[in-house]
Order: sequence, then C-alpha cells, then structure tokens
Amino acid sequence: MTREFASVGVVGLGTMGAGIVEVFARNGIDVVAVEISDAALDRGRANLTGSTNRAVARGKLAEADRDALLGRVTFAVGLDALHSVDLVIEAVPEHLDLKQRLFAELDRVCKPEAILATNTSSLSVTEISVATARPNQVVGIHFFNPAPVMKLVEVVRTVVTSADVVADVEALCKRLGKVDVTISDRAGFIANALLFGYLNHAVDLFESRYATREDIDAAMKLGCGLPMGPLALMDLIGLDTAYEILDTMYRRGGRDRRHAPVPLLKQMVTAGLLGRKSGRGFYTYERPGSPKVVPDEQTPTTTEPAASDQAVTKIGIVGSGTMATGIIEVFANAGYEVVSVTRGAEQSAKVFEAVRTSLNKGVVRGRLSEVDRDAALGRINWSATLDHLADVDLVVEAVVEELSVKKALFASLDEICKPGVVLATTTSSLPVIEMAMATQRPADVVGLHFFNPAPAMPLVEIVRTIRTSAETVTTAQVVSATLGKTGVVCGDRSGFIVNALLFSYLNDAVRMLEASYSTADDIDHAMKLGCGYPMGPFELLDVVGLDVALAIQRELYLELREPGFAPAPLLEHLVTAGYLGRKTGRGFRDHTRR
Ligand SMILES: NC(=O)c1ccc[n+]([C@@H]2O[C@H](COP(=O)([O-])OP(=O)(O)OC[C@H]3O[C@@H](n4cnc5c(N)ncnc54)[C@H](O)[C@@H]3O)[C@@H](O)[C@H]2O)c1
Repeated sequence: MTREFASVGVVGLGTMGAGIVEVFARNGIDVVAVEISDAALDRGRANLTGSTNRAVARGKLAEADRDALLGRVTFAVGLDALHSVDLVIEAVPEHLDLKQRLFAELDRVCKPEAILATNTSSLSVTEISVATARPNQVVGIHFFNPAPVMKLVEVVRTVVTSADVVADVEALCKRLGKVDVTISDRAGFIANALLFGYLNHAVDLFESRYATREDIDAAMKLGCGLPMGPLALMDLIGLDTAYEILDTMYRRGGRDRRHAPVPLLKQMVTAGLLGRKSGRGFYTYERPGSPKVVPDEQTPTTTEPAASDQAVTKIGIVGSGTMATGIIEVFANAGYEVVSVTRGAEQSAKVFEAVRTSLNKGVVRGRLSEVDRDAALGRINWSATLDHLADVDLVVEAVVEELSVKKALFASLDEICKPGVVLATTTSSLPVIEMAMATQRPADVVGLHFFNPAPAMPLVEIVRTIRTSAETVTTAQVVSATLGKTGVVCGDRSGFIVNALLFSYLNDAVRMLEASYSTADDIDHAMKLGCGYPMGPFELLDVVGLDVALAIQRELYLELREPGFAPAPLLEHLVTAGYLGRKTGRGFRDHTRR
C-alpha cells in the first residue's frame, strides 16, 4: 500500500533544511522542524519566515497562504518530537559520523514504518543507512539550493533500499511539484559530481590570481548563460558545506585531484568566511543571510575602465569565417570604421551578404533602423590585401585556428601596421604569447576572445600575456565597453576562463554517461533543473560540435597534464565515427528523427 506522508520531520534548519520545510509545508504537509538548540531553532525559524516573507513581497505567495504554511510547521529542539512522523529528512552538516549518530537516534525515536532520508550531497547513503536497524527504509532525497525554487530532486537508492520505499518517495516528489531522477549511491550523484569539479576549478583560478572574482563570475554568466557565477554560487552553497562535499568526493570518487579542495577554501572556512550565511565569503554581504552583495576592498573602484591614450577609431578585421563576420558586424554597428581583409573578392562578397542579412534581421525585429543599417554597412571597407591595414588603430584577426597561419599573419601585420596599434587575436585555444612573439612588438598584442554569435553574446575575454602592456589591456577594455560588451581580463592559459571551466565539465558529463551511471536525458535534466543551466551538457555538446569540444579538451589536457582533463574515450569515438552533433545530424542524440 502506498504511504500517505501526512506529516514529515526535518532535522537541521540551516541553508537547506529551512528551504525543505518550506517545500513540504507549501504543499499541505505538516512538518515537525527540529534543531539542536533554542538559538539554532530561532535562526531556523527566521530562515523560514524570511524566505516566505520574500515570496509574499514578490507576489509569489498570498499572505493567507503564508500564514497557512507557517501554521503547518511545529518547531522543536531534540529528536523526540519526531515520534509519529511518516518520514524524516535530515539536513545537518555534511559529516558522516554526525549523520550516522543522528540516524541511529532517529531509528530509536521514529515509528518502525517511518522512512528515514538524508539530504547529503556527497556522503554514502549506504554508510548512513547501516547505522539503523532499517537500512531498507533509508533513502537519499537530495534537494537543490534554494529548495523552494529548484525543481530537481535526486532520489538515491542504495543496494538495500526497498523498491516500494523508492516508489513512494518518487510519488512524494511529484506531489511536491518536483522532477525526480532516481540514481544509485555514488559520490556527488549526478549534479554535484559535475558541478563541484567546476566550482573547485573556478576557486583555483581565483586563488592563482588568474582573474578577479567579478571577471570569473561574469565570464560564466555571460559566456554560458548560467544563472550565477561559480564564486557567487560557492557563497550560496556555503564554503564549509562545499569544502566537505569536495573532500568527500575526492576520497570516495577515485581521488581525482580536481576534487581536492583548493587550499584557499580551507583557509576561508577556518577564518569563518562561510559565504552568505556568515555575511562574507568570496563576496561581502549586507548582513549574514542576506543575498545582497555590498562593496568591499576587492570591489573594482569603477566599472568603467580608465580612459585609454590610444584613440581607436579604425579597425582592421582579418578573416572571413563565422567569427570574423560577426566581429565585423559588431564593430561597424558600434560606429567604428572597419577594414575587412579576406583572401579574395569572392570571400568578401560572402561576408558582405552575411553581415547584411544579419543586420536586416535587426531591422525586421525593430532593433535597428534602415538608416543605421545602411550607415553600418557603409562603414565597412572591403579588401583582399593586408596592406590596407597600414593606418588602422586596432587589428582583430579571426583566421583559421592554426598556429603557423596565425604566426605568419602576425609577422606580416608587424611589418604593415603603424606603431602603437593594438594587435588582437580571437583565438579560442592557442597561446596568445606565440603570436605576440611572432612580432617585434609583443607589448601591443592581446587576445580578444569573442563568443559565437558575436553580435549576440555579451562577453569578450581580454587575454593578457606576460608581455602585454597595461596600456594595451586598457585599450582592449575601452573598446569592449564601447561595443557594449563586458570585457573580462584573464591570463594566457589554455581555454582562458570560459572554455577551461565549461569543457572540463562537459567532458565529465561524457565520462558519467560512459560509466553508465545515468542517461543523457537524466543528466541534462539534472543540470537544467538542479542548477538552472540553460541547456544540459549533451544538448550543448551537440550544438557546439563534438569535434570542437574534443579539440579544446585535448589542448587543456596537453597544457595542464591533469589526468582528469583527458578527453573521455566516448567523445573520441563519437568524433571518429563522424557523430559531431547537430551539424552532422547525429551526436549524442539523433537529430534526423526529430
Ligand atoms: N548548501 C547546499 O547548497 C546544499 C545543497 C543540497 C544538499 N546539501 C546538504 O544538506 C545538508 C545540510 O547542509 P546546509 O548547507 O544546509 O548546512 P548548514 O550548515 O547551513 O545547516 C546545518 C544545520 O544543522 C543544524 N544541526 C547540526 N547538528 C544538528 C543535530 N544534531 N540535530 C539537529 N540539527 C543539527 C545546525 O544548527 C544548522 O542549522 C548537508 O548534508 C549538505 O551536504 C547542501
């Protein structure tokens, strides 16, 4: 017979527990909310009232419904209050011994038929379950932060969890309006196993001063459409919790060094910088628990880059592919005079057509007037020889991604262009310093990594080599701002910020599929509904192209020699088989049948 779940218990009312109480109570279920002390109970109650009050203020919850919701919650100190509930879910700190002791106690207090659930993110549900005399009634119910908002619940079944317990918990998740994926007991389950390597990698970039916190976060939000940057997300999760999750994943998940918590994390936790909940983590918040970031000593003094001495009005753009075409449009549309250099009249005609078609779309959508379109087109000069770049102020090259070709081009630009010109490459994977050293003026060479489609994507990565001058970086920042893009500054390492963080995560998803832990559909679901990603990893890989992903991943691996970055064999096989994604009709999914 299916269980009814008339009342449930929640133990621990911190970041997750308070949200879980809200989810149950919102859906008409009576909740007994338990904490360890009166002071912690007061904090938990404040977490719940704060969250429900915000929902009322935003018009997402009626006042009467909030009152009814709060009326369904009984607060108590100590586990004895849980004697008659049908299910208990715990959300106490991520320590195995603490959870085992708690489960032994719950087993004693709760009625025999009650289900005992853990919200652990990384610990073994099996190890927790054997602390009780009812391991077949123990299950993982892993909510995502913030629990009232995120749709996903991972239901974790151990080898001894009864099938009827899993079925009843799945039905309960549906009743709560959640989407559940049921998986076996592996460190990090689906979402965290893919998320935490990425988060730790981002902390590593920050610790090594590869880029600022603002730039790392902006890069991932604007370059990948993620709802939050990785460092802001770490603050939301809580650095102590994140540390424990990484530490457990490292120990349980095959000692992948990418999961070994970056030293800075431990230091921050020891210093009490736990993220939002303590008022300070990577960022500083208005007060503990507040989502509002306030300026601190790391906040850039102004969002506008300092004015540059290098006046830039005329731009040379070399290349005729997708990126060159988009970049020509971006500059011309922003009012710059453009000299486009392609390999011949035929290519120039094609690029002209592509730019005109794209600008016309802007006219049809009402974003651009016909006059402005014609003015933008009129600002582009078409040429088939580099000699016409003698008097430009900035060159952006977007030719084929081959080092020998790019180096030869930079050597020619060095001969042709006037002194003081900024020479930029839009390479996504080659070392910018190689191109800089092909010239006699490495201080003037910088990476300007646009994203595809350039007119739509708001991000530009400004890549500073060890020879790039501060003035060149400033000019690149000013130009990016004039284009209406957010320029983030980073060092000259493989993948820069976005691709280094993004493609390693995509590669991890392929490994997870290869290990048959879950399906492509469930993994895509987990990342979209659990982490708010606009696309799941397999959807994105099919759009980006598996060959592109493989090439980037190979570069990352070759440069960093980190075994965890080695391209997944399945990715290599699919590319060898010609399954490159949408462009060939088949990648992880068959697009010819849809
Ligand atoms: N933070 C996240 O984003 C997130 C997401 C999903 C799952 N989780 C998991 O949820 C669990 C809780 O994490 P959190 O971030 O909410 O932690 P937290 O530190 O914010 O809250 C933990 C709460 O548990 C209470 N507590 C400690 N010992 C207790 C006991 N013996 N009895 C009753 N209450 C006790 C503490 O007073 C505190 O309020 C962890 O297992 C974590 O891995 C966290």
